Amino acid sequence: MKKQVIPLIEPLKGEIEIPSDKSISHRAVMFSSLADGRSIISNFSKGADCVSSLNVCRGLGAEINYLDDKTIEIISDGQLKAPVSELNCGNSGTTMRLMSGILAGQNFKSILTGDESLSKRPMRRVIEPLELMGANILSKDNKAPLEITGRHLCGIDYVSKLASAQVKSCILLAGLFADGMTSFTEPSKSRDHTEKMLQSMGADIKVNENTVYIKKSKLNPVNFSIPGDISSAAFFIAAALIYPDSEIVIKNTGINQARTGIIDVIKRMGGQIELLNMREENGEPSADIKVSYSNLKGCEISGIDIPRLIDELPVIAVLATQAEGQTVVKNAEDLRNKEADRITTVVNALKLLGADIEELKDGFVISGKTKLKGGCELETYHDHRLAMSYYIAGLVCEQPIVINGFEWSKISFPEFEALMEHLKVG
Ligand code: S3P
Repeated sequence: MKKQVIPLIEPLKGEIEIPSDKSISHRAVMFSSLADGRSIISNFSKGADCVSSLNVCRGLGAEINYLDDKTIEIISDGQLKAPVSELNCGNSGTTMRLMSGILAGQNFKSILTGDESLSKRPMRRVIEPLELMGANILSKDNKAPLEITGRHLCGIDYVSKLASAQVKSCILLAGLFADGMTSFTEPSKSRDHTEKMLQSMGADIKVNENTVYIKKSKLNPVNFSIPGDISSAAFFIAAALIYPDSEIVIKNTGINQARTGIIDVIKRMGGQIELLNMREENGEPSADIKVSYSNLKGCEISGIDIPRLIDELPVIAVLATQAEGQTVVKNAEDLRNKEADRITTVVNALKLLGADIEELKDGFVISGKTKLKGGCELETYHDHRLAMSYYIAGLVCEQPIVINGFEWSKISFPEFEALMEHLKVG
């Protein structure tokens, strides 16, 4: 689907409620399927990725019913059943990597498949540690489809070179079914929703700085209301910061410490952003975020910042084109392994719009502030975050732009355009 984005002529104003966090939704449906009893998850994501996780869990025998359009009940006896067909993870890396950990320790065989983009993404990062635990996984060049024959697993102490919540979660989930202790150490802290949720469901899990320890455990069912997704809020935050006179409030947004890198970076850039009504449920904090148009200045984003804002980097690149001076993003090489190579694609797209941006092997350098020209067509390459980041860039261009494949935004955020329209009329 081609989407034309017309530049804004009025500031963004008003309040919106941001939809459910994708990372937490995946975990909620998967972990509840492993618990013995009935769990109720409210504010479950409507994004296609989380629906893929839900369908995979159904394929493994969990009974999952919608009580209303955002509330699901999950009924399970705590034992997954052998699937009768392949388990389709769609576009979702989180579904494939987390499910690999769960399936490696079952007593049946399963096959995880994915769409064209997911079938090109690296799975070695989970296959290698799972094999060290005793898993049996067949793949073609460490890519999907993955044929997993469940086995008896043994705990390992795994030191990862990558700060990745998907890899960490995969190993911790395998650890739930493994003999002995499993530990996972990462170079800097990635999102910790798995640790928090497993803890609240009664798993034997401990965290010490960048290491997590887990032992074989049974999970209790949970009732949980999922906060809004800061990675979705990021698009509106960026738009309000760069269009003069905008001022918006984004309600009920998750502000887990491992996800708020974007807020810290905006403050570093001189952006006006405030957290209101802070609260917490099941260890997950949330707040309303107030953000206003700001004169931004460039900054460096690197090292421990990166896992705390990895998904926001495409829209941060758009933001940086509207900041005075240089913004340097480094140590983000794993951006090349997302739904698309988010370094080359972002650099090429922003260049086409007229930005001053240079590609690095592990990031990019942007010099601003540049008036973006627009008047061109951009490709999304099956990548939801590129689709929405380009939309935000289109709002501050001189000429309309066309985004080819805008429907990919539905992977995480089907409500994006409706909420944007709401802020446009203030
Ligand atoms: C996610 C972890 C991150 C992130 C992805 C969701 C998760 O991936 O980019 O969108 O829910 O665990 P990596 O673990 O590959 O960094």
